[in-house]
Amino acid sequence: MLKKPIIYNYNNVMSECLKSPICIYPEELESYAEKTKKIHSTLVKTRENGGLPFYELPYKKEDVELVKRTVGEIKSEMGEKLENFVVIGIGGSSLGGIALTRALLHPFHNLLPAAKRGAPRIFFVENIDPDQIQGFFDMLDPEKTVINVISKSGSTAETMANFLLFQKYMAEIIGENNFRKQVIATTDPKKGAMRNIAEEMEIRTLPVPEGVGGRFSVLSPVGLFPAAMVGIDIDLVLEGAAFMDRITSKENLFENPAYMNAIIHYHLHTRKNVNVAVLMPYSEALAEISLWYRQLLAESLGKMYAVTGEVVYAGQTPVKAVGAVDQHSQIQLYREGPFDKVITILRVENFKNFLNIPSLHEKFEASAYLGGHTLNELFEAEAKATMLALTKSGRPNIEIVVPEVNPYTVGQIFYMYEVQTIFAGYLYGVNPVDQPGVEAGKHYAYGILGRKGYEKYGEEIENL
Ligand code: PA5
Repeated sequence: MLKKPIIYNYNNVMSECLKSPICIYPEELESYAEKTKKIHSTLVKTRENGGLPFYELPYKKEDVELVKRTVGEIKSEMGEKLENFVVIGIGGSSLGGIALTRALLHPFHNLLPAAKRGAPRIFFVENIDPDQIQGFFDMLDPEKTVINVISKSGSTAETMANFLLFQKYMAEIIGENNFRKQVIATTDPKKGAMRNIAEEMEIRTLPVPEGVGGRFSVLSPVGLFPAAMVGIDIDLVLEGAAFMDRITSKENLFENPAYMNAIIHYHLHTRKNVNVAVLMPYSEALAEISLWYRQLLAESLGKMYAVTGEVVYAGQTPVKAVGAVDQHSQIQLYREGPFDKVITILRVENFKNFLNIPSLHEKFEASAYLGGHTLNELFEAEAKATMLALTKSGRPNIEIVVPEVNPYTVGQIFYMYEVQTIFAGYLYGVNPVDQPGVEAGKHYAYGILGRKGYEKYGEEIENL
């Protein structure tokens, strides 16, 4: 395994490389030096005083030990019969686990024979689509299934409804007692409906550390427990994150990729009307990192009010794309559409496999030129060609080189983006760790379904 740093390269947003009305001039970046120092010092103080506790997740040894102990208990209790591990959660309670496991498991983990998998199959139950939920029941044998319900608040309707359905379905077949042994709740350590239910049911629990919001929780038991259940080396994930912490603790924006990336995105957005931030990994393993990033950016920075109360309507629109597939879907727009996008390419240097493209059908040029090259070369050539093509058409693009997709580099990516997002929140002057905009929809849904305390929302809808 390559324990190397990821490399951040922003040349293609700068005036030297990018001939474009939306390029950035060196003096524009330099103008952020003072502001960066101020925000940095506020963040250091906040961190020292225990604020923004996501910063400390790479070092929370007691949580890691608890996660490992719980994995050990479940595996020894279930033994050979453990076939399925099902995570019930939504948003920040599921996206980190999805991104982490997709990045680090075999691409067809669930389809491999048990002996090759060496770990249970893993499923994420997020949506409340009745046909999909019934589909899970049609497929999963409750005897062989362990459930991890994740909800920090314990009041998320989707997660609660799915949990209730799984409890009824499984308990009817294996009995309440066995169900209790086959469910683990990851929730607030002290309060909330899920904590109360877990205590009443006397089931195992894991903590969502206090002050850590869903979208900043991937390096807590929220993401680590599912990862450890399927055999991912969570120590290495945290080691990678801790390594990135050393880099993103630097005050100088030119030495700190998280601060620099936040400034570039913020500057392009607020000064050059670049409203869209695309994350485009050239890697199937990293594809769901863009989904996780999409939520991180959207919920953290998409804010109507600044902390001063001023109306700001902050936030770029984050977009998920995947190379090379989206070259045949999105790149036309990115190159020739409005000048409103900054595109980040995550480029992997070394894949686990090295595939030679066979020399066949050599009389046809369309296949002849490929023979003798590797699929790896083709992938790399396409990523580089896309960056060049974007640059040539004046579109700002950033490259993050991932030496190899492994727990160490993935830990770095998560941590870098989290620090970047917090820093960007301070640039915009918004609170990056709340999400008031999500609440209104929840309240109306509670009102429609007659939840106590939300009658006025129900009435408002009835009176429409
Ligand atoms: O990032 C967030 O805070 C949200 O996306 C939450 O994670 C999501 O709404 C689920 O909340 P909970 O974990 O309370 O069920």
